[in-house]
Amino acid sequence: MNISVFGTGYVGLVTGVCLANLGHNVVCYDIDKNKIKLLNCGKVPFFEPQVEKLVIENSQEGKINFTTDIKIATENCEIIFIAVGTPQKESGKADLSYVKKVAEQIGKNISAYTVIVNKSTVPIGTGNLVRDIIQNECDVEFDIISNPEFLREGSAVDDFLNPERIIIGSDSQRANFIINKLYKDFSCPIINTDIETAEMIKYASNAFLATKISFVNEIANICEKVGANIDDVSYAMGLDSRIGNKFLNAGIGYGGSCFPKDIKALSNIALSHDYDFELLKSVIKVNTNQRLFLINKIKKLIGNLEGKKICVWGIAFKPNTDDIRESAAIDIMSLLHNENVIVNAYDPQVNYDYVRNHKKITGKINLYSDKYDALENCDALIIATEWEELRKPDFDKIDEILINPIIVDGRNIYSPVEMKKLGFKYVSVGRKEI
Ligand SMILES: NC(=O)c1ccc[n+]([C@@H]2O[C@H](COP(=O)([O-])OP(=O)(O)OC[C@H]3O[C@@H](n4cnc5c(N)ncnc54)[C@H](O)[C@@H]3O)[C@@H](O)[C@H]2O)c1
Repeated sequence: MNISVFGTGYVGLVTGVCLANLGHNVVCYDIDKNKIKLLNCGKVPFFEPQVEKLVIENSQEGKINFTTDIKIATENCEIIFIAVGTPQKESGKADLSYVKKVAEQIGKNISAYTVIVNKSTVPIGTGNLVRDIIQNECDVEFDIISNPEFLREGSAVDDFLNPERIIIGSDSQRANFIINKLYKDFSCPIINTDIETAEMIKYASNAFLATKISFVNEIANICEKVGANIDDVSYAMGLDSRIGNKFLNAGIGYGGSCFPKDIKALSNIALSHDYDFELLKSVIKVNTNQRLFLINKIKKLIGNLEGKKICVWGIAFKPNTDDIRESAAIDIMSLLHNENVIVNAYDPQVNYDYVRNHKKITGKINLYSDKYDALENCDALIIATEWEELRKPDFDKIDEILINPIIVDGRNIYSPVEMKKLGFKYVSVGRKEI
């Protein structure tokens, strides 16, 4: 099939390369000239495993093209995927300006029947809004589909190619037939529903996962008070198939480009329909507090933080990505800056220019390409992202370089017993101090 994807970010580019790899002819369109220039040279503008290889292979075979030319992106195209950002507005609502702009561009340029598939996460009712915008611009026949995306950064290609379910929200048999044909070789359940329900499924899923994280974090906080161990609690809870073992790791809370904004957007959607989503408000509050609790733990260990130097390992919002949007690590560094701490930091993938220019980074920050160099003259080490390479470091080296042998583990990646044996003052989340 001839497919265009609007937006070459994490979702759009992965969608484009995966569909090309499945044999479709794909055009990826973006307004960001630099991104398209890089992609045309076989370079991916962000870190995501497997994507660069698929870009190179499918470009060489002529199955994927990258362009800033809207005409190329809309001609002879049966399906257009919308995969532009829907960031959070100051008010907490989803910012639909990119989606609206894309709808206008599509309306101005399509010249034959096209199925417009929305992959961006959008408030319920956006499908109809997109339809109205396109209709205002053209007389050509088209249909709207909602097909929310569930891929996770860090494993995006595998997630796209092996999804646990595909959601197709549609009110047109013609479009529904075309999109089901596109996904016919996928073996997972395909849920055919209406557009509003499809839009809600995405928000409900993210909100539930965030709730699970905040729930386990609250249990962890109580564990600390009553002398219980969250590792065993989570493990035992997870064995119950009604609960499941995913998203039960206690820590400094969720972050990233989706959960924080989607949870706030859903809370706002509810409010705009006169419904106060009490549970979600608490989920957000608990998540914010997890960051504060970590800072209090450091204070308990080293007293006044003013003028101290603290090292943070891990800046990405989770391992295997370079994405720092709403990262817990950024919040931790910002809270440290509020206490006049000098921050040294290390991350294996993150673009340090983005960190230096981040609006929440207000104090002194030194960024290192070697994790041990980052420990120089530091009073403590904080683990903020559970990168694989941070799980088994050279503890003797850490002990030797740090001024004080203090590790505050925001992701519970080390064993309290081991840390005690090695002579560290070690605190984590929801586990007994030994
Ligand atoms: N990142 C994820 O893990 C993930 C997972 C599931 C769903 N989503 C949702 O998918 C959507 C996209 O997320 P993302 O992380 O890929 O965003 P992103 O910010 O990485 O990429 C968005 C891209 O859209 C481009 N763009 C903006 N306006 C455009 C226009 N008028 N025409 C063409 N391109 C335009 C931008 O230049 C950018 O390259 C969001 O709604 C997000 O919530 C994201």
